[in-house]
Amino acid sequence: MNSADEETPAAFDLGRIASETFLQSIDFHETLASTNDRGLQLANDPFVVTPSLVLTAAQTGGRGRGANRWWSAAGALTFSVLVNPDAVELPVSRHPQISLAVGVAVCEALRQRFPQGDIGLKWPNDVFLHNKKVCGILVEVPPQRRDILVIGIGLNVNNSLKSAPAELQATATSLSDTVGNKFELTEILIDILQMLERRLDWLSASDPQLARRWEELSLLRGKTVYIENHQHDIAGICQGIDEEGGLLLRTPSGIERVTHGIVKHFQ
Ligand code: BTN
Repeated sequence: MNSADEETPAAFDLGRIASETFLQSIDFHETLASTNDRGLQLANDPFVVTPSLVLTAAQTGGRGRGANRWWSAAGALTFSVLVNPDAVELPVSRHPQISLAVGVAVCEALRQRFPQGDIGLKWPNDVFLHNKKVCGILVEVPPQRRDILVIGIGLNVNNSLKSAPAELQATATSLSDTVGNKFELTEILIDILQMLERRLDWLSASDPQLARRWEELSLLRGKTVYIENHQHDIAGICQGIDEEGGLLLRTPSGIERVTHGIVKHFQ
């Protein structure tokens, strides 16, 4: 593993990231296919240190939820955080809430930096900025190490969506596209990691503030929401997100509680 005191690459100040966050270790690569793939690989090491960060300046084969790919270009933040839920007292039954907790952390970190920004959470964990997706989150459990979580976060920062595939340009944005200037990636990353630690603490302590926060940040309440999932697609009017992280939809046949799936559309 690279450590924070090795040569610091231009785009990231690894020393600052190590000293100002809860991380015990940083695995930095100039280029990497997928930080989640690398995180899953590291998790197979019985001596893997957690919490740790896998970070790359250029992710070339990013994965999204389901079969989706994650597009990114130079200037994007792409990273994965490895945590050991036992060490932070998160029983397996609560893993679904982790996605929401991570989404809350990213929203709050961005809101702190951009108080005027219109930043919200699309259940379970997409972060939107001015009605377009700015951040995607992929939480995975390594098949061989059910005690470790790999929390992958992709945030469009200084990369412009003008260079993205056409279908993304209508639905996604970056901080620089929206705000109009460039940002220090190290600063944004530290903000997110610090907030992630605090929100994972809320999660492990079953702090009721966390559910209140995801409800406040949710963009879906009162909207008609179309969900695609393995069993059957569902559409209904969103009544909120419950304390266990389930999405409550009013449908013609009553209230449906949705725990899995992808929101394809909301209006
Ligand atoms: C989604 O919205 O579908 C989730 C996207 C998650 C993308 C991030 S980028 C860092 C990490 N590595 C990956 O391969 N994927 C996640």
